[in-house]
Amino acid sequence: MPPISSLDLVASDSWRQRSELSSMADLPPDLDSAMSALDQQFWVSTAKLKDIVARFREELKEGLEKEGGNIPMNLSWVLGLSSGREKGRFLAIDLGGTNLRVCLKDGSGHGPNGKHTLTQTKYTLPATLKTSSADHLWTFITDALATFLSDHNLSDKYTTAPSHRLPLGFTFSYPATQHRIDHGILQRWTKGFDIAGVEGEDVTAQFRSHLAAKNLPVDLVCLVNDTVGAMIASAYNDPQTIAGAIFGTGCNAAYMQSLVREPASVPKLELREDEWEALDREGKQTGQETVKMAINCEYGAFDNALRVLPRTEFDDAVDRESPRPGEQAFEKMSAGLYLGEIFRLVLVGLVRRELLFTQNSKSMSKDGGELGKEAEERGLEKLKKPYTIDTGFLSAIEDDESPQFRQTRDLFNKILHLSPSDPEIEFCRRLAELIAVRGARLCACGIAAICLNEGIQQGHVAADGSVANKHPKFKRRWAEALGEILDWGDGNDGPIRLTSAEDGSGVGVAVIAAMTLERAQRGVRIGMGES
Ligand code: BGC
Repeated sequence: MPPISSLDLVASDSWRQRSELSSMADLPPDLDSAMSALDQQFWVSTAKLKDIVARFREELKEGLEKEGGNIPMNLSWVLGLSSGREKGRFLAIDLGGTNLRVCLKDGSGHGPNGKHTLTQTKYTLPATLKTSSADHLWTFITDALATFLSDHNLSDKYTTAPSHRLPLGFTFSYPATQHRIDHGILQRWTKGFDIAGVEGEDVTAQFRSHLAAKNLPVDLVCLVNDTVGAMIASAYNDPQTIAGAIFGTGCNAAYMQSLVREPASVPKLELREDEWEALDREGKQTGQETVKMAINCEYGAFDNALRVLPRTEFDDAVDRESPRPGEQAFEKMSAGLYLGEIFRLVLVGLVRRELLFTQNSKSMSKDGGELGKEAEERGLEKLKKPYTIDTGFLSAIEDDESPQFRQTRDLFNKILHLSPSDPEIEFCRRLAELIAVRGARLCACGIAAICLNEGIQQGHVAADGSVANKHPKFKRRWAEALGEILDWGDGNDGPIRLTSAEDGSGVGVAVIAAMTLERAQRGVRIGMGES
């Protein structure tokens, strides 16, 4: 039996001892016991983190062994890190969960001595696009691209003739099987997307046919996951980079995997004799003893079989109501898209039990039915609407230092049309903390598993995404959990650290496009197709 750590002892103790928040009001006994029950459900002890990591390691390994594992461990065909000398003009587009970004990288290098310019435009994805059709999606993207080219006077400088096109890198932040670097079959939509006619299809073929229909003078050179882009862009300036991780709307990470032939480090990678020889040549030419390939783990799908994750009834509800129930189990407990929704579901449950917002909820049905008219008039209908609360709301109330938590009151008023009492504010702040802490602790498990499997003992994890960047306490909580898992004590001083990624979506994919063209010129066309 593993030894009991001091944190586990605290875990069996009161929720107050674990909270970092200053206290404003006492909770009435029924809210206090509701909080204790929630704490039991949401707190993930050190021992549990270690169990999760053990299972995580197995799933990562299975993903490298065969196609179709739960965590797909997608091959990216990005070989090695960038030299930092890549030069030229490249277009980059990034289809994320919330925005489409188009970016032009021009010049040489991107390190401290590099001279490059970046021009970027962000287009917000219309909410309806997420549930539209393939045709709508590609039309939206190619329209944005056409506008960008024309706004920057690029349309006339290039033609559609093969050698006169502007090279384009595509950051596609969804799981895709890549037989080549310039191709990708969407395995499944994630992050609440449900666009018909794309799953199981080659997204690059669909994109190319829309580019051709619009006569856009661009050449799609590579398709890259956001995690891979973040890692490559960051490794350039920070040679200690060991992985790229996104903690945003979704969650995922990529790392560099050594390609060893015997015993096979990636058993599912089937290369011909001449391809292994080309890899050896590539290693010699680029100074790598063993060539490495970026692997996009897609670990948001960890534990879809629900063997080890400590799911609560609220996680079950999030999953049930999502467009893809049974998928992305890990992501649905830890990523930004879902944290606010979990919070909302807990509140709704307590309102139904008449424990919260009692001034507003006299007529909310206890059996979970529709709100009564009176309650609607009082504003509770806002709370009834799925995804009304985002992660920004949670971090804002957790970090509120204004007198009497004025900011929190204003937020409740503005977003939910509610006027919570002092104890209700106290309760909601602690709940926000509980959900965010669980998310950060779970997030540490993925990186711990990668590092343990790869024998990585130190380095920087280049992190991007709204949760990593906008939630001030995330990085510290993540580090503390990593320290507990790896027995370092306080992980904030540990040898594996989270750093802020360089703008992965723009620089990363543009650099990868340049690396790909340079590799083709060296004649190492593995994972590139024939032409
Ligand atoms: C996607 C990944 C992506 C991650 C972060 C997940 O939902 O499946 O491909 O890297 O979100 O954006």
